[in-house]
Amino acid sequence: MRIVLGVGGGIAAYKVASLLRLFTEAGHDVTVIPTEAATRFVGVATWEALSGHPVSNSVFDAVDTVNHVRLGHQAELIVVAPATADLLARAATGQADDLLTNTLLMAGDCPVLMAPAMHTEMWQHPATQANVESLRSRGVTVLEPASGRLTGADSGPGRLPEPEAIFTAAMALAGASAAPAGRPAGPGSQPRPNTEDAAAGPSAARPLAGLTVTVSAGGTREPLDPVRFLGNRSSGKQGAALAAAARDAGARVRLLAAHMEVPAPDGVELIQVETALELRKAALHAAADSDVVIMAAAVADFRPADVSDTKIKKRDDVADPVISLVRNPDILRELVEVRDAAARNQLIVGFAAETGDAGGDVLEYARAKLRRKACDLLVVNQVGRDKVFGEDTNSVVILSRAGAEPQEASGSKSDVAAAVIDRISAELARVVPPV
Ligand code: CTP
Repeated sequence: MRIVLGVGGGIAAYKVASLLRLFTEAGHDVTVIPTEAATRFVGVATWEALSGHPVSNSVFDAVDTVNHVRLGHQAELIVVAPATADLLARAATGQADDLLTNTLLMAGDCPVLMAPAMHTEMWQHPATQANVESLRSRGVTVLEPASGRLTGADSGPGRLPEPEAIFTAAMALAGASAAPAGRPAGPGSQPRPNTEDAAAGPSAARPLAGLTVTVSAGGTREPLDPVRFLGNRSSGKQGAALAAAARDAGARVRLLAAHMEVPAPDGVELIQVETALELRKAALHAAADSDVVIMAAAVADFRPADVSDTKIKKRDDVADPVISLVRNPDILRELVEVRDAAARNQLIVGFAAETGDAGGDVLEYARAKLRRKACDLLVVNQVGRDKVFGEDTNSVVILSRAGAEPQEASGSKSDVAAAVIDRISAELARVVPPV
């Protein structure tokens, strides 16, 4: 795909070098157009070396090829990151004072994604918000900035979203805009498949024919040193059964496998990961072209703050070590955020392993988790040392964000997987009824 990557003049421009790498490594042809201010942060040579194309920010370069017309007409996707307050204002008011804003005006129907980054006050200023509103009303996808530490001592909303998140949103936008017309879209709209096969409506025997389903399975392992890790009891059996059931329902299946005690089923694309961070990266990539994402993996919520390069030795002359932990990102939540930011139609399914305790029962905790994670379906099971992990049977309740009655399923893990896949097919069929 031909991508124009516009770079605004903010400190976050340096992160966009990683975004450019993600695009080129995925095989896309990227032309970078930095603004004049952006070149004060990252030089033209960097963009030329990483993109393999000459880089300019002036309409008076390469005049013989009428650069802005050519770039605007040829682009299949335009991504602007960081979109500064100034750049948003210039784009919103249709100014054409440099190559990037000229190209944006020449882009016609090409999908445009902007990833803002600026100080919180600038982002929240009514002028910026009005510009964002105006761009969105014209069909431009403007991501919400991330929250956190900003350039100075300040923190709040205004950080550039991570390159992987922008990449995923961009791929989703390009995919979504290539989907057949006439179906609902946008955050809050119902999920729908985006392939020609699926457009014909799912058949009863192979209800997921033509769709891509990504399943994560197994338990992540968080290393402490080269020989030790923090792990969990997940066997990967339920995730493997889900991948097989999705394959049998006709889907193209990608299995993101953390540690599993069972082999991956035949006929699925296997991507192996170890840690939560590796799973996050693989999941965000895979989600870009998936119609359904099922997060069945048991993801470590914490990882050791320090990983030793060498084996940690016990010594009599120093105190016993203390392991400090840091939080891992919530991958499921992030997948939902990226999908909604990109207005992508995608069904996202989470799993909840709950024990219940004095503070609440399993379903109470699960309902709260569904609200927190905002996925479409949550498959809930009760766990304990002798329950579910490693067993061949399972008993679950499927909760739906749309508020449908909870549905119970039990039996072998294959039976449960078939019930979950049936439920997913039914959710998709609500929007694309069989012909
Ligand atoms: N999950 C995730 N990223 C994490 C933790 C969990 O994507 N860092 C996903 C799991 O794959 C599962 C769902 O979130 O689909 C719920 O996992 P669970 O471990 O039950 O929930 P937690 O978010 O860890 O919540 P808590 O520890 O408070 O129960």
